[in-house]
Amino acid sequence: MTSSADAAVEVIGLRKDFGATRALDAATFNVARGEIFGLLGPNGAGKTTTMRILLTLLKPTAGTARVAGHDVTGEPVAVRERVGWVPQEHTVDPLLTVMENMTFMGGMYHLRPIAARRQAAQLLDLAGLAGHGNKMAKVLSGGTRRKLELAMSLMHVPAVLFLDEPTVGLDITARRDLWAYVRQVSGQGTTVVLTTHYLEEADALCDRVAIIDRGRIQATGAPGELKIAYRASSLDEVFLAATGQELAA
Ligand SMILES: Nc1ncnc2c1ncn2[C@@H]1O[C@H](COP(=O)(O)OP(=O)(O)OP(=O)(O)O)[C@@H](O)[C@H]1O
Ligand SMILES: [Mg+2]
Repeated sequence: MTSSADAAVEVIGLRKDFGATRALDAATFNVARGEIFGLLGPNGAGKTTTMRILLTLLKPTAGTARVAGHDVTGEPVAVRERVGWVPQEHTVDPLLTVMENMTFMGGMYHLRPIAARRQAAQLLDLAGLAGHGNKMAKVLSGGTRRKLELAMSLMHVPAVLFLDEPTVGLDITARRDLWAYVRQVSGQGTTVVLTTHYLEEADALCDRVAIIDRGRIQATGAPGELKIAYRASSLDEVFLAATGQELAA
């Protein structure tokens, strides 16, 4: 169990009700600083709801959560200063250039223009987009656009980066390219929490995962540990067992 001093994210007994729908129920898990952590689960399991609570965009019905050492309900401003977010839907402005998208985001975080351009140039370099700065975002391929969105979310150097289905719709080469980028971001000290429906992606990329089903955490651990615990040969099998589904014949 991760000690709380090392935790980038601490979730204790989190519940979220939308009217009669219980989207999250007694969810408890920790993410250690520097980890790449995957939230896995079927459609409607509560992954995005969890992220939105951790980003202070939604208030929990019950329970507590701390992100980068700050309480999401008591200290939302401190949390917001320390988190980055790439949502499920796309955030790039197609009619701005790559560099303009980056510096626009810098402005949102009150970076001065010169500092924003310097930061943008460094991040584009890390993302392998150094030569793309003057291109209109609309001409970028899906994978390159997604990388730009990640780079944009790093302009204020967040302690914890939340990626909601970062590789959906990307081909395998673009996905692997994005994994490499996420590993680099992680290597620079940013904790990464991501969701994905691609279980081989979670297996390859995540240090640890939590499997959520109908708002409840069913399993937490390193992919290798979970495979051993469930006597499974793949994370797909773990996922199906943890979510009470049968393996297709
Ligand atoms: N704003 C809302 N109002 C009412 N119900 C909501 C709202 N947001 C989410 N829900 C419900 O909460 C549950 C969890 O939704 P959530 O978006 O967290 O799932 P998810 O795990 O991210 O699914 P997906 O894999 O499809 O993105 C679902 O039943 C959903 O319909
Ligand atoms: Mg979602």
